[in-house]
Amino acid sequence: VDINHKYKVLIAEDAPVQGKKLKYVLEKLGYDVVWALDGQLALEQIEHHEFALIISDYQMPNLDGLEFLKAVRKNPVSQNIPYILLTTIEDEMVFLESLEAGANEFLNKPFRPEELKLRTKNLISLYMYQKLLSEDNNNLNSQIEEQNKLLKKHLSDLEIAYNDLRNYQEHAIQHSKLTSLGLMSAGMAHEINNPLTIIKAQNKKIKRLIEIESSDRVAILKLNEQIENSSNRINKIVNHLKNFSSHDAKTINHENPLNISEALIELKDFYGGIVEKYQIDFIESIENNCHAFIEKSSFDQVLINLIHNSVDAISDQEEKKIWLNVRSQEDHIVIEIIDNGPGISPENVKKIFDPFFTTKEVGKGMGLGLSLVKSYIKAASGEMFLDSADGRTCFKIELRKYDESKIKFAA
Ligand SMILES: Nc1ncnc2c1ncn2[C@@H]1O[C@H](COP(=O)(O)OP(=O)(O)OP(=O)(O)O)[C@@H](O)[C@H]1O
Ligand SMILES: [Mg+2]
Repeated sequence: VDINHKYKVLIAEDAPVQGKKLKYVLEKLGYDVVWALDGQLALEQIEHHEFALIISDYQMPNLDGLEFLKAVRKNPVSQNIPYILLTTIEDEMVFLESLEAGANEFLNKPFRPEELKLRTKNLISLYMYQKLLSEDNNNLNSQIEEQNKLLKKHLSDLEIAYNDLRNYQEHAIQHSKLTSLGLMSAGMAHEINNPLTIIKAQNKKIKRLIEIESSDRVAILKLNEQIENSSNRINKIVNHLKNFSSHDAKTINHENPLNISEALIELKDFYGGIVEKYQIDFIESIENNCHAFIEKSSFDQVLINLIHNSVDAISDQEEKKIWLNVRSQEDHIVIEIIDNGPGISPENVKKIFDPFFTTKEVGKGMGLGLSLVKSYIKAASGEMFLDSADGRTCFKIELRKYDESKIKFAA
């Protein structure tokens, strides 16, 4: 509340002597006074000035004090302005009604200047504080509203970005699978070529045997069996390929745990060729009959990605070594893929699982391998650690073990 501010006071008073006296006292108190000669005229003034107080006589022509008060309270511009009603003893009947209509104070005529001064001051101070408060409130509300709008906008932006990212990630994952497929094709061509060569050769032999009159049925059947085995092998590789490039089915099958050692034997179709091509010393230590809960195509992806990373890591090594260990340990199956590459620098260790983090040149790596691996391990409720020391980089995976004896016992 500004002490030096000249507040405006509206007087509605038809009696000249009374009006003059009021105006005089109020102006002496430092107020800016507007004096209207009846309720109707006073009402018009409200539209033109910002009043801090209204003092009105009760008995006036046109609009009386009470009607004027009601009109003041109806108008949003003036509904909160303090209002003093000037009354005489005879006006007593109007007290209650005017209180109900929203009068703040009553002053008996003839009024004492001292009383007018105090009431005026109090009412104006109170009104100004209330006004300040409600302005603060309004400001706060509009600020909150503004913030809310901004937040909403951010949120919808975020949602859009999130969806874009998800779409992109789906694409990228599919892309990365295809890239791995490309990388593996050399190895797989080799794997398919072997049985194919056998099939061709044995088929020729069969043809020749059939041409000879005294054909040896046993020999033919043996060749036929070899052909069948080789075809089966190719079939397997092709099925594997289909599995690998298919969209995810990451859920774990609780009825049907994966036989890890068997899965690894099948997986050789995928990495055997590369191991041979780069003359890698591939050292396996695989415990038999390890069953774990992980979906097969996820397991394949995990192993292939880790082996590929190791193959890349040791490409400049004179002696290239990769170890693959599988063992059962308490209630989980531990799988380790270790290589003797240069390892991972401490500042990169934190980032290698982030999608799109790669140190490989453009076109070689997308940086999705490990983030995929991690998501598959997580989906299988397993855990994964990087554990490297002494020139060995070790990725260690722990999967939930399926313990046949325990399950049977429980059933
Ligand atoms: N065995 C490892 N030895 C050294 N560094 C590794 C090894 N495995 C992963 N890294 C590092 O982690 C990074 C991320 O690996 P990740 O498999 O996620 O992506 P990438 O191999 O670069 O590309 P992508 O797998 O998509 O083809 C690699 O670029 C490499 O720097
Ligand atoms: Mg990789």
